[in-house]
Amino acid sequence: MDNIDEIAEKLQNALFAGYSKRLKEELFNTANAGAMENPDSHVRITGVCGDTIEMFLGIRDEKIDDVKFLTDGCGFTVACANYVARTAKGKSIEEAFGIEQDEVDRYFEGLPEEHKHCAKLAVITLRALLEKYRSKPNPAKPSNANNGK
Ligand code: FES
Repeated sequence: MDNIDEIAEKLQNALFAGYSKRLKEELFNTANAGAMENPDSHVRITGVCGDTIEMFLGIRDEKIDDVKFLTDGCGFTVACANYVARTAKGKSIEEAFGIEQDEVDRYFEGLPEEHKHCAKLAVITLRALLEKYRSKPNPAKPSNANNGK
């Protein structure tokens, strides 16, 4: 009989077939998963497959302080949403708009064809989150005091 480590490894390989090394690493380190209390922006977007990502934005001094997400989607979606959320952190709103689906796909060493839309859903959700924040009547601009050149 196989020992327990071999069985665990076989199960993991079967479960994560088609997942690149980076994808697995991202899945095991989903620090950005979860909800956020009193976010500066919040959206829920459903993709073509019927899965949904909910995203929360925290802004401080005109920079993205944090992005959190919840999803009922597949493992690829969890990894893509986490990548997008952690990559947006520390960027300005405009810089975060520059995060592209191709970048996510490249980072994960090429998502399987049937899961390219998971990266698209993560990027679309981030952009909707940023757009909603940007369209707020008075987004907080606490460090704008020295703009009167
Ligand atoms: S399969 Fe639906 S977003 Fe991944």
